[in-house]
Amino acid sequence: MRILIGVTGSIAAYKAAEVVSALKKSGAEVTVVMTEHATELVGPATFRGLSGNEVRVGLFERWPGKPIHIDLATGHDVVAIIPATANIIGKIACGICDDLLSTVVLSTRSPVLVAPAMNEAMYGNVAVQENIATLKERGISFIEPETGWLACGVEGIGRLASLDTILAAIGDAASTADVAGASDAVAAPKAAAASKDLAGRKVVVTGGATLEPLDEVRFISNRSSGKMAAALARVAVRRGAETVLVAGVMAVPPPPGVKVVRVETGAEMKQAIQDEWEDTDCIVMAAAVCDFRPERVAKGKLKRRDGLVLKLASTDDILGSFSRKKNKRMMVGFALETENAVEGGKRKLDEKDLDLVIANNPLREGTGFGSDKNAGYLIYRDGRVEEMPLMSKLDLSEKVFDAVASHLAAMP
Ligand SMILES: Cc1cc2nc3c(=O)[nH]c(=O)nc-3n(C[C@H](O)[C@H](O)[C@H](O)COP(=O)(O)O)c2cc1C
Repeated sequence: MRILIGVTGSIAAYKAAEVVSALKKSGAEVTVVMTEHATELVGPATFRGLSGNEVRVGLFERWPGKPIHIDLATGHDVVAIIPATANIIGKIACGICDDLLSTVVLSTRSPVLVAPAMNEAMYGNVAVQENIATLKERGISFIEPETGWLACGVEGIGRLASLDTILAAIGDAASTADVAGASDAVAAPKAAAASKDLAGRKVVVTGGATLEPLDEVRFISNRSSGKMAAALARVAVRRGAETVLVAGVMAVPPPPGVKVVRVETGAEMKQAIQDEWEDTDCIVMAAAVCDFRPERVAKGKLKRRDGLVLKLASTDDILGSFSRKKNKRMMVGFALETENAVEGGKRKLDEKDLDLVIANNPLREGTGFGSDKNAGYLIYRDGRVEEMPLMSKLDLSEKVFDAVASHLAAMP
């Protein structure tokens, strides 16, 4: 697999080094093209060292002779701009080719991936949004930015997508090209794409945090980022399932190809599942549903001077209520256990009559809310327990759907 990574002048340029390193480690051939401005932020030597190839910056570096942009535009399976500035997005949208990277992008017939990274205000700017919309209409794929802490010191949307998301997107794009040989990270999606063992199945994934209102402006919620659900939905789509993501509050964008149903409260989540229930084959409950809700929701805004004693009521047991009427549907649950994960997971599996439980401890170092990794145990109906070491949420999702695919295939 031959991949061209374009690096532009975003503060996130250093993160492209990790992408190049991971691709290279997995056996891909990587060439890096940097803009002049990117070289102000990271030295070309970093990318030369990581890719093992000369880094290209100038349009006229190798002239006269065969123009370098034609060479680069024709020789790659995927062209991925990581990170992409507002500037390069605008240039591609307008057909401007005033440097090597923009000229390569406009000259290539390879799939182009764009991973924006910028300040929240820049990202929200009408010109930037219109340019993104134009490029999407023309078939350019975006690796959507995440919401979180930005280098400019504010919280908001505009942070470069995570390494796992970027590698998965490159893998997806490369899997449409007829090429062989790639990394674990890049090859895994290809292998799954080839098998499509969930084709003809409908999978519902729930994810993110629910929130329960306290008054008309405040709510209680939890720290779930929705990353696990986004990874699950991405893998389900890749393996051929018709996939619905019932999404509470999520800090990451849903993957492409998924029907997204947005909800806020637990009651809305229950209704959304009910709406999809009839023809669903498998439901994976990865959402962090609030166990409690304020017993009474105040009108308007509660006043500080009045003081507040909060009385909470238990919310509905969504998983249990659907599990009781599941028939042939496969029910998969997550058990967040801060101690004795296996014991707690087995109890949940029995009590709620589930087919598979992923027991994990979100407080374990390197895992949990907001992390790109997870670890824990797969607990099966027949009593088997499989320990899962620390791995990416995408790899964990592959394991979950391996179990789902064999369970569904064994159903009469
Ligand atoms: C320290 C620094 C960080 C920057 N970070 C970003 C960024 O994250 N995203 C962005 O769109 N522009 C960012 N800019 C502005 C771009 O570098 C500027 O628009 C430049 O013209 C982009 O050129 P290029 O697209 O050719 O690399 C940054 C500028 C500076 C000085």
